[in-house]
Amino acid sequence: MECFRIVGPNRIQGEVTAGGAKNAALPALAASLLSDGPLELSGLPAVRDIRTMRHLLGHLGVESEERAGVVRLQATDLARPDDAPYELVKTMRASILVLGPLVARLGHARVSLPGGCAIGVRPIDQHLAGLEALGAEVQLEHGYVTARARRLAGGAFRFTVPTVTGTENLMMAACLAKGTSVLDNCAREPEIRDLATLLNKMGARIQGAGEERIEIEGVDRLPSASHRVIPDRIEAGTYLLAAAMTAGEIFVRGAIAADLAPLLEKLAESGCDLEASEAGLRLRRTGELKPQDILTAPHPGFPTDLQAQYMALMTQATGLSTIGETVFENRFQHAPELGRMGADIHIHGTFAKVHGPTPLSGARVMATDLRASACLVLAGIAAVGETIVGRIYHLDRGYEGMELKLQRLGAMVERLPAEPT
Ligand code: EPU
Repeated sequence: MECFRIVGPNRIQGEVTAGGAKNAALPALAASLLSDGPLELSGLPAVRDIRTMRHLLGHLGVESEERAGVVRLQATDLARPDDAPYELVKTMRASILVLGPLVARLGHARVSLPGGCAIGVRPIDQHLAGLEALGAEVQLEHGYVTARARRLAGGAFRFTVPTVTGTENLMMAACLAKGTSVLDNCAREPEIRDLATLLNKMGARIQGAGEERIEIEGVDRLPSASHRVIPDRIEAGTYLLAAAMTAGEIFVRGAIAADLAPLLEKLAESGCDLEASEAGLRLRRTGELKPQDILTAPHPGFPTDLQAQYMALMTQATGLSTIGETVFENRFQHAPELGRMGADIHIHGTFAKVHGPTPLSGARVMATDLRASACLVLAGIAAVGETIVGRIYHLDRGYEGMELKLQRLGAMVERLPAEPT
């Protein structure tokens, strides 16, 4: 199993470009199922989740080809199969994003239930209740969700919890429903706005994406469109945090300040100098890091996908910081690994107390999810000596060429084909 070998400490310095957002690219790819015309997407990051989604779409009959960074998808013939099998869904929960488009376009779909996940239970009840509100008949059988509707009908649905992929699934389904749909308590992440921009370019009539209430007037057909996905705010935030942690200086080209506001606020309060421009974001830290508490929450709150990396940063702040996780119930698995590197972290339920600054020393560590792995890479760069981060297939799901980007920023990170014995 491949791993990263990091020799630290190193200071992160230089410029990096944020890739396209994985979590915007995944629903954008799924949207190809809604259209019989070609959909051209650019800016898709070269990460494993994107390859998995393209593989799943291929299985469903979507033809795709890539030329000069543009992926052209054509879903003319979607006869059979209409199923998303367990083998694919279990490796990537976002596969559930094909459910809404398939039932809207074909009138039927069969998608494996995703099952448990390292960061929490992550049910899909809201996706299913929402589709029922649009007239689908939903059944759970043999580990699969089956949804049927001759044609979905516009309806009203209020999410009991704002869910990102749930909002995206329903928004896509409602585009081809007959009549108007009103969705309330929607998730407001920038990736949802980006998906609505794409769908509207395809001919959909969506208003309010990025707000709590989204209204969608159904249309009969969604013809072709071209779209570039937004830059990845979580990747951008991870590199900003790497520079902050190592008292470095970085320019993240393409990073959008508005989409990263909750992180930038904390970084500024903790003593980093920040400068935002049209071109991107610059961060510099010269002085001591002040501890800052965070509480993760749906957008515009502090993103759960940056919580682990932020915890790594707080191990270097002078004093006590409290990190609260409200989105997922099991997302502190990086804390004991940071502890093995010398961090002083105590977990009390959904809160972590971090006492800093603690010198970090290189160690063999392993993470169980994508963002926790990124947190350990950051810790490895700041730590003295050699760190081996195992199971980096998690990282490859969502970070494009992370070791190459970090090398250019001055870190000594290399990919090894297997963990040393
Ligand atoms: N939830 C329910 N019922 C549902 C759906 C969600 O109770 O039907 C709960 C979840 O269990 C969780 C909360 O609602 O407690 C929010 O989950 P959400 O559905 O918003 O998460 P998601 O759509 O499955 C997306 C991102 C995640 C990110 C979360 C939260 C994609 C493909 N994935 O997941 O990204 O953490 O939103 O922002 O967009 C990552 O990139 O590392 C990642 C995990």
